[in-house]
Amino acid sequence: MSGTAGSPGPSGPRLPGQTVVVLGGSAGIGYETARLARAEGADVVLVGRDPEHLRQAAVEIGAVSTAAFDATDPERLREFFAELPGPVDHVLVTAGGNYYARLADLDFTRVQGLVDEHLLLPLHLARAVVGRMRPSGALLFMGGTGGRRPGLGQVVSGAMTAALPPLVANLALELAPIRVNLIAAGFVDTPLSARLLGDELEKRREQLRTTLPIGRVVGPADVAALAVHLMVNTALTGATYDIDGGQQLT
Ligand SMILES: NC(=O)c1ccc[n+]([C@@H]2O[C@H](COP(=O)([O-])OP(=O)(O)OC[C@H]3O[C@@H](n4cnc5c(N)ncnc54)[C@H](OP(=O)(O)O)[C@@H]3O)[C@@H](O)[C@H]2O)c1
Repeated sequence: MSGTAGSPGPSGPRLPGQTVVVLGGSAGIGYETARLARAEGADVVLVGRDPEHLRQAAVEIGAVSTAAFDATDPERLREFFAELPGPVDHVLVTAGGNYYARLADLDFTRVQGLVDEHLLLPLHLARAVVGRMRPSGALLFMGGTGGRRPGLGQVVSGAMTAALPPLVANLALELAPIRVNLIAAGFVDTPLSARLLGDELEKRREQLRTTLPIGRVVGPADVAALAVHLMVNTALTGATYDIDGGQQLT
């Protein structure tokens, strides 16, 4: 992989004149990927729910346009792609979150929300992009590595973690030659992680610094670098790419 997050590679921009849509582009991994894609010459389109947050991100990144809506709304998603002025090269989905709770405490509204974000959204999106994406393009989804090992409070996130790789591999067959890949992240230092951990955030960072083989915490720019690589490397489809700093090994 050439270049570092936030700057184009030594052999020039890798996404010149391409259009990259980020569903969940106003914060975290989506924001950093949009920023890197822009630095690599792409026109970026950002989607998020909070319009003010989105507007601010668009100004910082230099996005060509934004749309504020809930990406789990299938009809709105279909309209959004139908109304885009031109074809899209790549789509990254970072809209969504995670939910950890013991069985006895499960809030089924939140469980349904997670199913909507991580299982139904990819299916609706895959339908919405047909005829709207260039054949050389890539569709990228986010999954995780933490839920691979069973643990108390992980009954829902564990099931989502297991479901996504075959979902993505099957979509790669259905949508070919458009490529479809999954990024499976461990802990990434984003606003989502800050919300989930609250006062425990700094303790978690310190624990990861001392236990991860890479000796540092994985940040959203690390994931952005992988996402852009998956956009430009046309040999990659139907696969899951782990990025966790070696967290699964510890
Ligand atoms: N951070 C981690 O450690 C980690 C690890 C593994 C996997 N992941 C996954 O990676 C993805 C991105 O995580 P992140 O940490 O970057 O999250 P984040 O910091 O919370 O950013 C999420 C972005 O998505 C937008 N968004 C959320 N729900 C949306 C919806 N329904 N429709 C449209 N936009 C929506 C948010 O803006 P609005 O709130 O304004 O809509 C925001 O721009 C998530 O699916 C998460 O589960 C994260």
